Amino acid sequence: MQKTFAMIKPDAVSAGYHHNILQELELGGFAIVSKARVQLTRARAAEFYAEHKGKHFYEKLVDFMSSGPVIALVLAKEEAITGWRTLMGPTNSVVAKEQKPDSLRGKYGTDGTYNACHGADSPASAAREIKFFFPRLILDPLPDPATAK
Ligand code: TYD
Ligand code: MG
Repeated sequence: MQKTFAMIKPDAVSAGYHHNILQELELGGFAIVSKARVQLTRARAAEFYAEHKGKHFYEKLVDFMSSGPVIALVLAKEEAITGWRTLMGPTNSVVAKEQKPDSLRGKYGTDGTYNACHGADSPASAAREIKFFFPRLILDPLPDPATAK
């Protein structure tokens, strides 16, 4: 079972859409491994999105992501990383409404910045992002002390 990192962004939380998104992801077969409601500081949001530093949208993105609480999630499913990105739909919610109207970004987002949710894009990103929000989470089962050599 693969794990991924997902987040419900401040626009969706403040609109109350997190209830819908949580229901849809469970209906979609994702198990919730961890869930936390978190207020990011500007510095933490900047660190989370450091890969986009210098791009034209970076400052606006960091302002948005620190504007209110988010819901951080560790999700588990077969092929969870690509499966979650498919459920979210295209990055820009205007495009999503056009091309994938039933996707989460199509239904709950607004535009290219206020797009309701986030998903890790690779196993390396998922590992980094899970650690960023849940540093104490143990992802692999501990060895059984009775049989461990
Ligand atoms: P990106 O990693 O390209 O998209 P995704 O979230 O689908 O992995 O961009 C990260 C976030 O930055 C994106 O969810 C919304 C914001 N963003 C903008 O505000 N403007 C833009 O032009 C782009 C590409 C992204
Ligand atoms: Mg991305």
